[in-house]
Amino acid sequence: MRTNYEELVRQLQALMAEIPYRVSNLANASALLWLSLPDINWVGFYRLTGDKLVLGPFQGKPACIVIPVGRGVCGTAAQENRVVRVENVHTFPGHIACDSASNSEIVLPLYDGKVLWGVLDIDSPALARFRAGDEAGLRQIAAVLNDMLTNTNEKT
Ligand code: SME
Repeated sequence: MRTNYEELVRQLQALMAEIPYRVSNLANASALLWLSLPDINWVGFYRLTGDKLVLGPFQGKPACIVIPVGRGVCGTAAQENRVVRVENVHTFPGHIACDSASNSEIVLPLYDGKVLWGVLDIDSPALARFRAGDEAGLRQIAAVLNDMLTNTNEKT
């Protein structure tokens, strides 16, 4: 079933509207994506701290806490400042398997203003789960999250 990303964008905007608490918004965003995206086994955030990505709010199995920039799918997205969409994680050099059930993955960089804040990471047990249409929709979700990050404070 295709995801209605326009509706998801509206739901995410409504959920975070006027809420100045960054951690709360990210926690609710991970819950909304978890409930709305079929066939995924992990969704969440890693925050850039120095040269490491550190685990943030998420849904799914407990995950790796620290990922060096440049390592795995998340670290590659952060280092190269780009969306990384992987059809088969087992063929991705340096992939970090937090859950052995994961077969495909998409990672989108997130920004506080112009500064890289961290990443949104989504895993699926299906091969090639994330299509070009999903990437386009998730880029819109990332844009909503970027606005929230830009307008809230790191300490919240
Ligand atoms: N597979 C990711 C690590 C994070 S977990 O999937 C939650 C990676 O290779 O960066």
